[in-house]
Amino acid sequence: MAARDSKPYVQYFYFLYLSVFVVLQCVLLCESGYNMEGRAETNGMFVFGSSLVDNGNNNFVNGSVAKADYFPYGIDFPLGPSGRFCNGKNMIDALGEQLKLPHFVPVFTDPMTKGKRLVHGVNYASGGSGILDDTGSVSGRVITLNQQIRNFEEVTQPDLETLLGCKGTELLSNYLFVVGAGGNDYLLNYFLSGASKTLPIQDFTANLTATLSNQLKKLHSLGARKFVLISIYPMGYTPIVKAMCSSASEGCTAMMNQAALLFNSRLKALVDEIKPQMPGSNIVYINTYQIINDIISDPASRGFTDTINPCCEVGANGILCKREGSACLNRNSHVFFDGLHPTEAVNVVMMERAYASNLTAEAYPFNVKTLASLSTHL
Ligand SMILES: *[C@@H]1O[C@H](CO)[C@@H](O)[C@H](O)[C@H]1NC(C)=O
Ligand SMILES: *[C@@H]1O[C@H](CO)[C@@H](O)[C@H](O)[C@H]1NC(C)=O
Ligand SMILES: *[C@@H]1O[C@H](CO)[C@@H](O)[C@H](O)[C@H]1NC(C)=O
Repeated sequence: MAARDSKPYVQYFYFLYLSVFVVLQCVLLCESGYNMEGRAETNGMFVFGSSLVDNGNNNFVNGSVAKADYFPYGIDFPLGPSGRFCNGKNMIDALGEQLKLPHFVPVFTDPMTKGKRLVHGVNYASGGSGILDDTGSVSGRVITLNQQIRNFEEVTQPDLETLLGCKGTELLSNYLFVVGAGGNDYLLNYFLSGASKTLPIQDFTANLTATLSNQLKKLHSLGARKFVLISIYPMGYTPIVKAMCSSASEGCTAMMNQAALLFNSRLKALVDEIKPQMPGSNIVYINTYQIINDIISDPASRGFTDTINPCCEVGANGILCKREGSACLNRNSHVFFDGLHPTEAVNVVMMERAYASNLTAEAYPFNVKTLASLSTHL
């Protein structure tokens, strides 16, 4: 009798065991990123945005003029020139290092980026692109932010689902979704196209952040839960803007910084505005504007001596380094590597602050370390 009575329990426990096993197996596979390494707090990152976070996607984009696949780009990078718009590590490499990811985040457009190489995330960012589809047409072909998100949705996500055996939030909750976009919408669109003469900057900015908000909600609907939003930095201090402004009015560079501050204040506000519309999500805003501004106002305290000149010899457009041109020797003491992009030394400081800063003026409402360690409820 006793043995027969216990039978339903046996079945029950067997069923429970099976369910737990299936769930555990998926969680283990989904989290294999850090379980295998035993160190990293996150599986990896999916990266969207412009040249500041592009690890080399434009190398594979025919017709793009925003390429950095030649010397002296990469002069301090282990792989040499790789398409990163920097002498060494860009922000994403520096952040990956803080997160102890086992390798650099591969680029979407590289045909080798498939199978197990997707496990720690993929970079979709494209130099010259902006939040709006029409930004970047001056850079030849770019991959727009909307297209970057479609590339994630239509190509990477199905591949990862097959590889890891789980879907949606279960698959994506332990990845960071890093978005660094917006600067080009001002530099290569609003101020360049003449839109600034008819459309008030407040209206243009509201359109940008509303568009970005929809893009973030799209990623959330696919299962993304942890977001890192990177502010735009003080464009007015960049060598290209200073060069373009020198003949114009006194307020020209200040106006570019005002545009960045306006966008950033809206971006920061978005953190609290969209969280209720994206259940289960956590969003961190990184104020790279503030961090670069602090370096430029007190360079010596961070070991910088040149906050003005590009380190490399820039080409005719004033933005990118001249192909095979010269580069300065004291690269760690320069703020800008070319006419627009910071040096590795600045990227490292920015991402150290992003990862570990306890100041809400730098990382709001908390830092990336805290974001990465949060357990998301499925
Ligand atoms: C780019 O051009 C190369 C060489 O012409 C070609 O093999 C490749 O398919 C093109 N790539 C795209 C994405 O169009
Ligand atoms: C942004 O402006 C464009 C052009 O006026 C419009 O088509 C689009 O709907 C706007 N986007 C948002 C999110 O408001
Ligand atoms: C931030 O606070 C944490 C916890 O109090 C501390 O361990 C950490 O060192 C602080 N980070 C910085 C950069 O001061």
